[in-house]
Amino acid sequence: MDIKNKKEAQKRIESLRKEIEKHNYRYYVLNDPQISDFEYDGMMSDLISLEKMFPEFASPDSPTVKVGSDIAGKAPGVREFKQYRHRYPMLSLGNTYSIGELSDFDRRVRDAAGEEFNYNCELKFDGTAICLTYSHGKLVRALTRGDGMVGDDVTDNVRTIASIPDNIGEVPWDFEIRGEIYMPFASFNALNEERIDIGDQPFANPRNAAAGSLKTLDPQEVRRRGLECVLYHIIGDNIPFKYHTEALEWAREHHFPISKYSRLCRNMEEVTAYIQEWDTARKSLPFATDGIVIKVDDLALQARLGYTAKFPRWATAYKFKPERALTRLISVDYQVGRTGAVTPVANLEPVPLSGTIVKRASLHNSDQMELLDIHIGDWVYVEKGGEIIPKITGVELSKRPSDAAVPHFPTHCPDCGAPLVRDESEARHYCTNENCPTRVKGAFLHFISRKAMNINAGEATIEQLYDKGYIRRLPDLYRLDKERLMTLDGWKDKSAQNFLDSIAESRKVPFGRVLFALGIRHIGETTARTLAARMGNIETMAKASREDFLEVEDIGDIIADSLVEYFSDSAHRQMIEELKGFGLQFADNSAASRISDRLAGCTVVVSGNFSRPRDEMKAMIAAHGGKNTGSVSGKTTYLLAGEKAGPEKLSKAEKLGVKIISEDEFYSIINQ
Ligand code: IVH
Repeated sequence: MDIKNKKEAQKRIESLRKEIEKHNYRYYVLNDPQISDFEYDGMMSDLISLEKMFPEFASPDSPTVKVGSDIAGKAPGVREFKQYRHRYPMLSLGNTYSIGELSDFDRRVRDAAGEEFNYNCELKFDGTAICLTYSHGKLVRALTRGDGMVGDDVTDNVRTIASIPDNIGEVPWDFEIRGEIYMPFASFNALNEERIDIGDQPFANPRNAAAGSLKTLDPQEVRRRGLECVLYHIIGDNIPFKYHTEALEWAREHHFPISKYSRLCRNMEEVTAYIQEWDTARKSLPFATDGIVIKVDDLALQARLGYTAKFPRWATAYKFKPERALTRLISVDYQVGRTGAVTPVANLEPVPLSGTIVKRASLHNSDQMELLDIHIGDWVYVEKGGEIIPKITGVELSKRPSDAAVPHFPTHCPDCGAPLVRDESEARHYCTNENCPTRVKGAFLHFISRKAMNINAGEATIEQLYDKGYIRRLPDLYRLDKERLMTLDGWKDKSAQNFLDSIAESRKVPFGRVLFALGIRHIGETTARTLAARMGNIETMAKASREDFLEVEDIGDIIADSLVEYFSDSAHRQMIEELKGFGLQFADNSAASRISDRLAGCTVVVSGNFSRPRDEMKAMIAAHGGKNTGSVSGKTTYLLAGEKAGPEKLSKAEKLGVKIISEDEFYSIINQ
């Protein structure tokens, strides 16, 4: 840093604070960071040094002394959770990328300790922090870190994570156990594939996916996403342990998920050896880690060392530098996806990075290209985002060739030439032409996919059918016959018959999956299933207003707008009519959709687990004339409480005198 005078320092401090706050918001609230952790930590470290050099500009509001806040509701479109104050502040950790600085930490601790002690070295799990409160051995609340003082209540969602015990049996002292919720690579990849498939922006890395998932509306959706948990800190007023490792051992014996990768180290040599081992070994783990946490093991010494406003003085993190490579940007391709979203992809001079040769990297969108100020011919830094998808994180300006040119984001679709429009909410460009060949083929691929109509064919078949001009609109699939199929290269009587059988079979696919198959933007598998159960048939949906859709649990502004837009297009309505004519299911014919009015005028809140999926319970309520809502209020008639029903909901119902009914009582009401 080259700061010459006070005035300049003040300006730089202010601008760094602003910049860091902006990135905190993107990271903690939107779960959509624009810069790498390394760049962020670099800014933070500059700010810390400047505030040390110029203490007159210190401020209690500086991000150097405040914990970054994940409290939702500050972002438009982000769901608001109930909030509770943490019993003990939930702080962050100091961090460094250098072993030298780690030795400074060790020296400070040693000076304070004055006697021998051990460190427990642990992996630093790259997820989102969670605080679980247990009372009499029962899980009573799960809070996110929030702003360190107040966190979001995500108990219902956390209860869907199988490894978190609900009840460990009577424990005579209450405690909190804290740790990380994370998403293993396998779940992350599956989730992103699905998001790309339905036209949603994929998550940049497993951390964002975990944090975003923990804050979704629907606990069943959270269950589906395959989150995991690891716990690493027990606190309480009367906990009977002398050592951190002893506390974790106790927790392990009581079936809490505790990492098996920790190690007790006696000195910095052993700590350094642990770091070096894991810098390599972590690459074979099935989940993301971004460093090592070093903690004083002796709890009495921890208490003596205490805390700053933001960090414990008894622990710190050593973070692994992201591996990055420098290479040249040859050109930028613009790829059109199934939904018409156009993604810029960089073609690079091949370069080795973390064991693979990288030739292409994502540039995300036009905003990102501008932010990076990228030029064709530039030398660019490439990193593996979340260790998987390579991305360009910066430009080496000192190497910019004089003839480097700014790439222009196309105004028209690179495949069909139709104008592109920009969706401001997603900062993405879309091709407006529904007949764009890439979009059409993508729509067919989605329609036939396993989770949609499950028609036995792949990309090559769709290409062949499209090239021959046999398919342009979805109903064309149901007009295919053997004669035409036999004109395709390599097709025989048997393959044609199999394909036709599979198409015929798809007529039985239930409404929820047909709705998903239509490929309406932002309508994933679960949302489609919920809509089918709640709205009953496609006619109701086609007539529904934005407000009607918003009434359905879990449907927010973006989905409601997308549905209204879809059904307002007469071409879509016409297509649905044709598909209906071919016998596809456009009504929810499950037993649940048969109507009675036994629940007419009743408002029912559903909580907990039942012998059938929760969607089915909700569908039954609708089918018997009742209304299902998400939270208990004075207007609620029944709280339908299953196994593990939310304690908040139960106590609110009791307070308001709302009748709590079991699954069996519910059946006897509707079957009277
Ligand atoms: S101990 C008082 N141990 O990293 C803070 N934290 O960047 C005690 N983290 O806020 C935290 N793995 O969310 C601890 N083994 C581990 C960890 C860990 C990941 C997270 C935690 C913390 C953040 C700081």
